[in-house]
Amino acid sequence: MKSLIFLSLLILITGCRLTGQALDVPYVPTPTSVVEKMLEISNVGPGDYVIDLGSGDGRIVIAAAQRGAVGHGIDLNPQRVREAEENAMKAGVSERVIFIEGDLFKAEISQATVITMYLLSSVNLRLRSGLFEKLRPGTRIVSHSFSMGEWEADEEVRIDGRNVYYWVIPADVMGQWEWQVNGEKFLMDVKQAFQKIYPQLRAGNRQLDVRQAVLVGERITFSVVDHRNGNHYVFNGLIDNDRITGTTQIRNDKYKAIENWSATLVRR
Ligand SMILES: C[S@@+](CC[C@H](N)C(=O)[O-])C[C@H]1O[C@@H](n2cnc3c(N)ncnc32)[C@H](O)[C@@H]1O
Repeated sequence: MKSLIFLSLLILITGCRLTGQALDVPYVPTPTSVVEKMLEISNVGPGDYVIDLGSGDGRIVIAAAQRGAVGHGIDLNPQRVREAEENAMKAGVSERVIFIEGDLFKAEISQATVITMYLLSSVNLRLRSGLFEKLRPGTRIVSHSFSMGEWEADEEVRIDGRNVYYWVIPADVMGQWEWQVNGEKFLMDVKQAFQKIYPQLRAGNRQLDVRQAVLVGERITFSVVDHRNGNHYVFNGLIDNDRITGTTQIRNDKYKAIENWSATLVRR
């Protein structure tokens, strides 16, 4: 009897199942109001593929399906996976979602448009580099209660005493980019820390004034003032590996136009 009590306590304390891997996070469900806020802030809807890492009773993926998305949940605990499948059935969304038993660190997640999670700060930090490796730029991530260290959230809201954090995976724009506008060559050096970018721009031997540089997923925008000729530019483009394609607005006292813009990465 004593040894049975000891074993039960051990399981409770370590979060271990009798067979298999220890849980990295105990099961605590996200309240419904927080689930709805997570899906609202990440704008989940038709066309989305939502993956909940550590999906518990399936509530986040099920609520996402009720908003028109498809997706799946992954949980190490088979009992949670069974509950989630039953809940999906009851909610009438079992044709749109599945729940699988597995380790969230080893999960294939590249198909996601939205990743949801309610884990722990330490687990988020261990996950972070994998999220950058596996997810495409533009993928949205939403986390209940726990942040990602120095990767600051793009948005943070509070609901019923809980924090909800929201990020978009940024494209990698670090390096030197080159392009021409009206026969003039531009060279831009970009330093990057997660979604924050610090561009320095030259045209010929002049340093230009870059303002409001913003990177959201694969989209970059920034304004430029060339004090020598009075030109104002607004650059706006989509990053695809070593190329940016988009448009630039050009404006000065006598002239205004919108032209195609294409930049090439010349050095990482
Ligand atoms: C705090 S609960 C969150 C459940 C659900 N996402 C929600 O918000 O209601 C964390 C879940 O992660 C699961 N979990 C813990 N470690 C895991 C791992 N390494 N791989 C997959 N699931 C894990 C637990 O079984 C638990 O169901």
